[in-house]
Amino acid sequence: MMSSPLPEAWQCAGVPSLPAIGPDVVDEFARTIYGRTPEGGQLTDLVLRSRDNGVLSGAADRLRHRAVIACPLGNLELDTVTHLPAGASAEHPVPVVVALNFKSNEEPSAKVLKAGYAVLTVDYQQIEPDDPAPAAPGVRALFPTESWGAVAAWAWGLSRLLDIAGSIDGVDPEGAIVLGHSRLGKAALWAGAQDERFAVTVTNGSGCCGASLFRHPGGEDIAAITTKFPHWFVPSFSTYAGNESSLPVDQHQLLASIAPRRVYVASAEDDAWADPVGEYLAVVAARPAFGPNGIGYHVRPGTHDLLEEDWLHALDFAKR
Ligand code: GCU
Repeated sequence: MMSSPLPEAWQCAGVPSLPAIGPDVVDEFARTIYGRTPEGGQLTDLVLRSRDNGVLSGAADRLRHRAVIACPLGNLELDTVTHLPAGASAEHPVPVVVALNFKSNEEPSAKVLKAGYAVLTVDYQQIEPDDPAPAAPGVRALFPTESWGAVAAWAWGLSRLLDIAGSIDGVDPEGAIVLGHSRLGKAALWAGAQDERFAVTVTNGSGCCGASLFRHPGGEDIAAITTKFPHWFVPSFSTYAGNESSLPVDQHQLLASIAPRRVYVASAEDDAWADPVGEYLAVVAARPAFGPNGIGYHVRPGTHDLLEEDWLHALDFAKR
């Protein structure tokens, strides 16, 4: 689906070819960019702390839980929020969107809930602090000797949110959507590539190391991202700074690795730092890997943000 007319300049830009996608492609992304997300992390306790009826449109519901996840070197505790649409119940569970958030569990809009999905979310920094030298360690300190960056840690957290979803009455973990914006869109993409339980992966404004092609010039590049955010990736990723053409992979292959499961990419026209043209070209290049309606895309006017309209386009795609 291409839901908006594309700016004319985009239509003549180059589309890279798509090499055959084998099972080793995800390993290559782990090795060069994100690091491997380790197996493990077991949900051992889920305590309901509060339940507020009617916080959104009428009868929507909001549940706050404390989840305990046992990891090899200790426990991680998460304060999750589950937004349930009206009518969701143990007898009538609804599919779920799992999403990390930036601002301590911000609310999805009433229209998003009306689309019929639950939204399960946690503050991303409860999983791993977004800091090259964090004051307190995150989940990476709870696993022995793995080399993984913060993006991979957040992707691990998205999979744990899906574990949690399976223990909440009113939520059906089958057919789950993983969704994220910007740095969390990078994490959503990496979670979708690694965890086959996610039926739909939605990556919004994810830019460099998200949906956009390294080999399309424009916006953020490897030098910029690894200088400012060295903790997001494996340390050796910075050796590709200024040398994008020597990377063994590009992001259309990551999108394609998710097929036959479905992917939705969203851009904003004025989000130059995320290189919307590079995001669009990655979608076009990945398309041969997908069936009809397997990959969707929209570009909207405006700047870097995850707007209600972005949610609604993505959920509309997911429902097809
Ligand atoms: C910075 C960073 C981007 C990232 C964005 C965000 O702009 O350079 O790569 O996507 O922050 O997460 O908002």
